[in-house]
Amino acid sequence: MSSVLKVEGLRKEFGGLVAVQDISFDIGEGEFVGLIGPNGCGKSTTFNCISGLLHKTAGTVEIFGKDVTEHRPDQIQNLGLTRTFQHTRLWRQMTVIENLLVPPRHQFGSSFSDRIKALLAPKLNQQESDRLEKAYSVLDQLEVPHMAHNLTSELSGGQSKLVDIGRSMMGDPRLLLLDEPVAGVAGPLAMKIFNNLRNIVDETGISILIIEHNMDFILRQGVDRIIVMNEGRVLMQGTPEEVRNNRQVVEAYLGSDGMSGDVEE
Ligand SMILES: Nc1ncnc2c1ncn2[C@@H]1O[C@H](COP(=O)(O)OP(=O)(O)OP(=O)(O)O)[C@@H](O)[C@H]1O
Ligand SMILES: [Mg+2]
Repeated sequence: MSSVLKVEGLRKEFGGLVAVQDISFDIGEGEFVGLIGPNGCGKSTTFNCISGLLHKTAGTVEIFGKDVTEHRPDQIQNLGLTRTFQHTRLWRQMTVIENLLVPPRHQFGSSFSDRIKALLAPKLNQQESDRLEKAYSVLDQLEVPHMAHNLTSELSGGQSKLVDIGRSMMGDPRLLLLDEPVAGVAGPLAMKIFNNLRNIVDETGISILIIEHNMDFILRQGVDRIIVMNEGRVLMQGTPEEVRNNRQVVEAYLGSDGMSGDVEE
């Protein structure tokens, strides 16, 4: 299995605070991997460094075999990496389908004038009608085609998260980084989202790295591997079975308040 993401010795300091100490891991092609760890252990910072939003203090990041340590976010996105943010970013006064047609922020085509052009163009050219078709197929893939014309301001938190995932899939990414896409989402919908992501990985061969803070939950969601972080380091990585049976992880996390039981049922 070839590596689509290789992180080596990643370190990020904010002034005197070391948010990420020393992180190394690989993600293979077609792998569905969970990234887990307690609040403040450096998960989102790791994503921000990989996607080029933050300058790294030390370490290297390779995406599809290319060293992107000094690349800008839009250059990284053009290589096939898309990420979502912990706090859902949608255009609340637009419909679901319109949100899918607007390019994500910090990425190519996301300037204000590009958005206006995309939305106000009187005549759809071929490229735009292809995007519309793509948007409907993404909603089909996520099993929510009926939501296409709802205003996103009318959606539940969980449905908004789904639209956010949908937006991230619009550019046909080969590697998706999802930052807590089911935080605060009701249990059955959260499971459905994971199930859909598993199917997308299996059907398209893309790779997904997904941050989730609930250990009990992610152990049951069909990911191939879990990377467990603690205090800016990788505590261990392995299959859900290996994580479940790892004494260090069991002692540090399982059943502790921060890591279980807060996915709403
Ligand atoms: N831009 C920033 N400036 C200063 N400190 C930051 C910044 N971003 C994150 N931090 C700090 O870095 C540490 C790691 O934060 P990070 O957001 O990566 O954690 P996390 O694992 O994603 O946590 P959570 O589960 O709460 O989302 C925290 O102490 C946080 O306060
Ligand atoms: Mg975070």
